[in-house]
Amino acid sequence: MIKNKSILVTGGAGFIGSHLFEKLMSEDNFVIIIDNFNNHYSGKEKNIAEITSSYKQDKDYDLIKGDLLDKEVYKKINNNIDLIFHIAALPGVRYSIQNTELVSKNNIIGTLNVFEYALQNKVSKVIFASSSSVYGNPIYTPVDENHPKNPISPYALSKLTCELYADYYFREYGLPITCLRFFTVYGQRGRPDMAIRDFINKIIHNQEISIYGDGEQLRDFTFVTDIVNGLILSGEKREADGQIFNLGNSNPISVNQLIEKLYSIAKKPKKIKYIEKQKGDVDVTYSNINKAKMILNYHPSVNIDEGLLKSYEWQISNSVRQ
Ligand code: NAD
Ligand code: UGA
Repeated sequence: MIKNKSILVTGGAGFIGSHLFEKLMSEDNFVIIIDNFNNHYSGKEKNIAEITSSYKQDKDYDLIKGDLLDKEVYKKINNNIDLIFHIAALPGVRYSIQNTELVSKNNIIGTLNVFEYALQNKVSKVIFASSSSVYGNPIYTPVDENHPKNPISPYALSKLTCELYADYYFREYGLPITCLRFFTVYGQRGRPDMAIRDFINKIIHNQEISIYGDGEQLRDFTFVTDIVNGLILSGEKREADGQIFNLGNSNPISVNQLIEKLYSIAKKPKKIKYIEKQKGDVDVTYSNINKAKMILNYHPSVNIDEGLLKSYEWQISNSVRQ
């Protein structure tokens, strides 16, 4: 467990970052968040407010509203940082096809600036949030970390580029960076642009769900608390320095199966239509997590039925946020 440390979490107002923030705060760490609260979606202020209501700004945590692309932002960090979790990015594979320049600049230059800050300030560990999308359409499954990388979206390319920079900073400067490839993460405070949050919202409001392609694409949906555990475990282990790990659930289901499960939780009749397959969408994500199990002691524990029920219940009790 990481305790009593000064930790920078970039993107801490977002979905995964806010769960990590919550967990780190509960272990008496001083957490500094940098987030620009971009308009990719709304509700990030509420994410932060839910967590910080029992803490005091400056004494227990710090919140810097700013952009990682702006070099002045880093001057606002008043503490010596022990550890950085670099979670911020413009996510979304399909979004990146329409917004290639914005996503590439934000994700690549933002990451370079964080790595440079870490190097200049002798930060002893950096964890980088990468993505399963770097693999593209797999040629075998489950995919291990050595599987060829064939990205099919600018977002995936941006993450792969950042991994290459991480490797460069590790080899050339000894900056201890660990890259974690997350597989389609879901849970409370989930991103509204992602399938599970969007589908539950539509089911609650009796709206029709659009399924891309034939719905037989597989996703290795992974619950957010498992991802947070993996993040923290990698922050603790020196053996993780300079390494890349898959953080998945290793138990994929199809979008059609996901739909069945959600309607059965809601006990409502299905309202769905099939539309064209979307560019940038891979057919299968399926993680081999043996490396993370062996080196990090990462063992995902929330199965899909349990995770979907928790997500559904959270959304019902937060339906004013939809
Ligand atoms: P999110 O959009 O909810 O969180 C990202 C946060 O980063 C947001 O709060 C945003 O405002 C902030 N941000 C973005 N660019 C910034 C910048 N230039 N300066 C400061 N703040 C900035 O997304 P998420 O789903 O929580 O994803 C978190 C990370 O995990 C991302 O790097 C994403 O690419 C990666 N990832 C997510 C998933 C998933 O399924 N959610 C899967 C694989 C990888
Ligand atoms: C997700 C995240 O959005 C990315 O940020 C992340 O990098 C990626 O996981 C990852 O694993 O690395 P994705 O798997 O596309 O990307 O997640 P969703 O947007 O939740 O879509 C899940 C599945 O639902 C996809 O197969 C998609 O085709 C399908 N879908 C989505 C639909 O059929 N209809 C929709 O309206 C939305």
